[in-house]
Amino acid sequence: MTTTTTSTPDAQNVGDMIDRLNLKPGHAAVGGLQWGDEGKGKVVDLLTAGFDVVARYNGGANAGHTVVVGDKNSALHLIPSGILYPDKLNVLGNGVVIDPEQVVKEITGLREQGLKLDENFVISDRAHVVLPYHKIQDALQEAAYVMPNALDQTIEGIGTTGRGIGPCYADKALRSTAIRMSDLRDFDQLKHKLHRIVPIKNATLAALAQYANEDFTPIDVEALLAWLKPLAEQLVPHLTDGAAVLHDRIQQGERILFEGANATLLDIDHGTYPYVTSSNCSSLGVHTGTGVAGHHVTNVIGIVKAYQTRVGGGPMPTQLDDEIGERIRQVGREFGTTTGRPRRTGWLDLVALKYTATVSGATGMAIMLLDVLAGLPELKVCTAYEIDGQTVTNFPADIGVLSKVKPVYETLPGFPEDVTECRDYDSLPGAARGYLKFVEDFLGVPIVMVSVGPKRSQSIFC
Ligand code: GDP
Ligand code: IMO
Ligand code: MG
Repeated sequence: MTTTTTSTPDAQNVGDMIDRLNLKPGHAAVGGLQWGDEGKGKVVDLLTAGFDVVARYNGGANAGHTVVVGDKNSALHLIPSGILYPDKLNVLGNGVVIDPEQVVKEITGLREQGLKLDENFVISDRAHVVLPYHKIQDALQEAAYVMPNALDQTIEGIGTTGRGIGPCYADKALRSTAIRMSDLRDFDQLKHKLHRIVPIKNATLAALAQYANEDFTPIDVEALLAWLKPLAEQLVPHLTDGAAVLHDRIQQGERILFEGANATLLDIDHGTYPYVTSSNCSSLGVHTGTGVAGHHVTNVIGIVKAYQTRVGGGPMPTQLDDEIGERIRQVGREFGTTTGRPRRTGWLDLVALKYTATVSGATGMAIMLLDVLAGLPELKVCTAYEIDGQTVTNFPADIGVLSKVKPVYETLPGFPEDVTECRDYDSLPGAARGYLKFVEDFLGVPIVMVSVGPKRSQSIFC
């Protein structure tokens, strides 16, 4: 948490504007269509005005969602981005992995700003718990992976956020070493579980540390329990059957907004594997991550930054390592919300977007940070890849192939005008509208919103 505010001054106006989105009856999912940090936090905060419940379905404290209200910034990692509306229910679904210390820190920060976070914030008791040994394992795994060996002297690590995400989801899949939020209700049982699990963790971590020439201090079970107890006491009152709560709300005719963390190109199944995170971040994760079936979600809003960014390892075909890339990074303030790492920047990749819009079933798109492109003399968009002399328009599954592709660009006119004060589509400069139209036509998905700045008011509903 940085700072926040309880006031929602323009919520009513936003509610009216949301009507213009022509959303279908039913529920909506919001998810990133690139490599994260597309501006999901801003869109979820805005759309919350038109919904009753906001539910996170995946990821953990690897996410950093920024919400700007007035001159206050909130960087939310776990708590859903609808939390600034006191009358809306916010849910952490079963698909989320929860770092107890981080979520308590966020709760405390929000309460200090005057938000209640009592019955308006619930956590699925089926969600999994990220423990300190997961973060140690995350770091050691990365260090071990990049150790030179007989065949490879250098290799790029995944470049994780170090938040213990992969190891926690791995334990979920392993089952015998997993801890769920429901385990926090009974410390006697939890003590037994941790006395069984921690020695296994210590053995694993010691071996990893030895291989990677890193230091490692074994985890002490009693110290771990003592650290966890006060956190559990704060979290247990929020635990509930998340799926049952959501279905109850659906029965009552309420509308749910599902908030995705990370993004489709980071999806464990559909992303640029292995340079991905460990959950289903695309809209496909809504169903397993909350217990709400597919037919309920009639709107899927794909969030798209007007250019491409990536943080962490893995190929990015349109990456710009020149002064244009640096300019985009500076103007767009492209530094990680969670880790502060500089994000790689580049031209919009329509080959990747066509793929992610399709996989996610996007029914509409929000184009974010359009203002950042103002002043560039020309704008390029990648419409195909060249691989070994052949032009292809499909997004390759093989990371080795993706690393080799050369982007084929279409060049469009830039717009010199500042667009941060534009409040309707027609007031955007012609070249900006031309850029948006090109993207919309290429992808065949309607643009429902354009964002020209971080504030709520800097939004154009189309
Ligand atoms: P998320 O992870 O998808 O929620 O995105 P982040 O919060 O990590 O990064 C998006 C950043 O862009 C945040 O600092 C937002 O405040 C900011 N932002 C959102 N929309 C706009 C926009 O239209 N223009 C500009 N300049 N910044 C924006
Ligand atoms: P939001 O929700 C950008 C990236 C990491 C790394 C890879 C795996 O703010 O858009 P992990 O710690 O999840 O094992 O890291 O995924 N990554 C993100 N990049 N935004 C995010 O979230 C990300 N969540 C994970 O940088 O490359
Ligand atoms: Mg982010």
